[in-house]
Amino acid sequence: MTIDLAALPEDFLWGTATSAYQIEGAVAEDGRSPSIWDTFSHTPGKIDNGDDGDLACDHYHRWREDIGVMRQLGTNAYRLSIAWPRVMPGGDGPVNAKGLDFYDGLIDALLEAGITPSVTLYHWDLPQVLQDRGGWPVRDTAHHFASYAAVVADRLGDRVKHWTTLNEPLCSAWIGHLEGLMAPGWTDLTAAVRTSYHLLLGHGLATQAIRAAVPGAQVGIVNNLSYIEAATDRPEDVAAARRLDGHTNRWWLDPVHGRGFPADMQEVYGVELPEQPGDLETIAAPLDWLGLNYYFPSTVADDPTGQAPRVRTVRRLGVPRTAMDWEVDAAGIENLLLRLTNDYGARKIYVTENGSAYPDIVRPDGTVDDPERTGYLEQHLAACASAARQGVPLAGYFAWSLLDNFEWAYGYDKRFGLVHVDYKTQRRTVKGSGHRYADIIRAHGRKRRNAA
Ligand code: FCB
Repeated sequence: MTIDLAALPEDFLWGTATSAYQIEGAVAEDGRSPSIWDTFSHTPGKIDNGDDGDLACDHYHRWREDIGVMRQLGTNAYRLSIAWPRVMPGGDGPVNAKGLDFYDGLIDALLEAGITPSVTLYHWDLPQVLQDRGGWPVRDTAHHFASYAAVVADRLGDRVKHWTTLNEPLCSAWIGHLEGLMAPGWTDLTAAVRTSYHLLLGHGLATQAIRAAVPGAQVGIVNNLSYIEAATDRPEDVAAARRLDGHTNRWWLDPVHGRGFPADMQEVYGVELPEQPGDLETIAAPLDWLGLNYYFPSTVADDPTGQAPRVRTVRRLGVPRTAMDWEVDAAGIENLLLRLTNDYGARKIYVTENGSAYPDIVRPDGTVDDPERTGYLEQHLAACASAARQGVPLAGYFAWSLLDNFEWAYGYDKRFGLVHVDYKTQRRTVKGSGHRYADIIRAHGRKRRNAA
């Protein structure tokens, strides 16, 4: 497939993304304490095949090799997350020097390799000690998050300019506290709403902390937004689509844009917000960019007896699906990029995650050919380029993921990497999709005005 990349700026960030718990392993080394994901993954029945993140990709020891893999791909950026329980094993202090040293060395090596680091402070791995004190439903956690953010920003801020406070707070709040399918595994609407509130408060406080520590910091938040359509034009289904839009998009976007928490959703949840004077201003701290994680669109119908937001997903026939059973439809990413620009006035957007899982087969010669993942990548990059042609200020794209890794409740079975990981030997092999990504990046660098 030919992709017209001419609309993407010359300094476009071509990256890959990972997160700490999904790749690092070394969960008990150099002073790291357990996170809620250690607890959850070691709870029988929570993770497919009984997998856990104890070893993962062993990135904690193999990070030099992994930077080598990034060089092979020709990427000029890398989105990583910092493990809070490595840096502050006690949750609210003291600082663990060895934890910070690890990231310090990684950042230096990335910069030496010409790769811009983009650092996420929270990709779901709350120190278990803070969970034991109430976790995100408790206000103090937001303040502890800001203190931890200040420590990391202070140490890395001379070299790191791209900062993300939270990755997909929706998953922490709704999947972790309402659906119970992610850590900490609760099914409690009141706790979930309070969590959502304190996450966004923590985001605002951390934004202030980063700005105070890092001159010229570029601060953003990363959301996994949904492109939603109603299954029919029945008013009930249209209203259901609107509710899911509130639940997955507006609840997360409106407050950080100074619009407060959507009134219709407050009514749907029926849970009082733990609001204190000044909070909404803190949450709405101005941002430099918005991060979009996009995987699949949703078609929904009314589910009057279901839990909030009372919607059920409808399968569209004839639409291709990944191994996650997620629909492949790149129209969603283009639509969401336009929405962030037109409805929320985004001045800069990064696609901070996008990718697909398929069952890879390693051939006898060691190569991995993954035409479906390659097709997904091409279609979604073409949709991004189309959005840019329509005026979307898209400044970078981070493929999920650099490596196959621990895919949360799905364990190691679901492979999202552009690079294959053999978990027995920890051998890394660039897949066909990774080679294609490298070609696209090269073509963009070589002839910005030509097609890849
Ligand atoms: C996103 C997560 C990321 C990864 C991908 C597949 O929701 O941010 O860690 O699991 O999905």
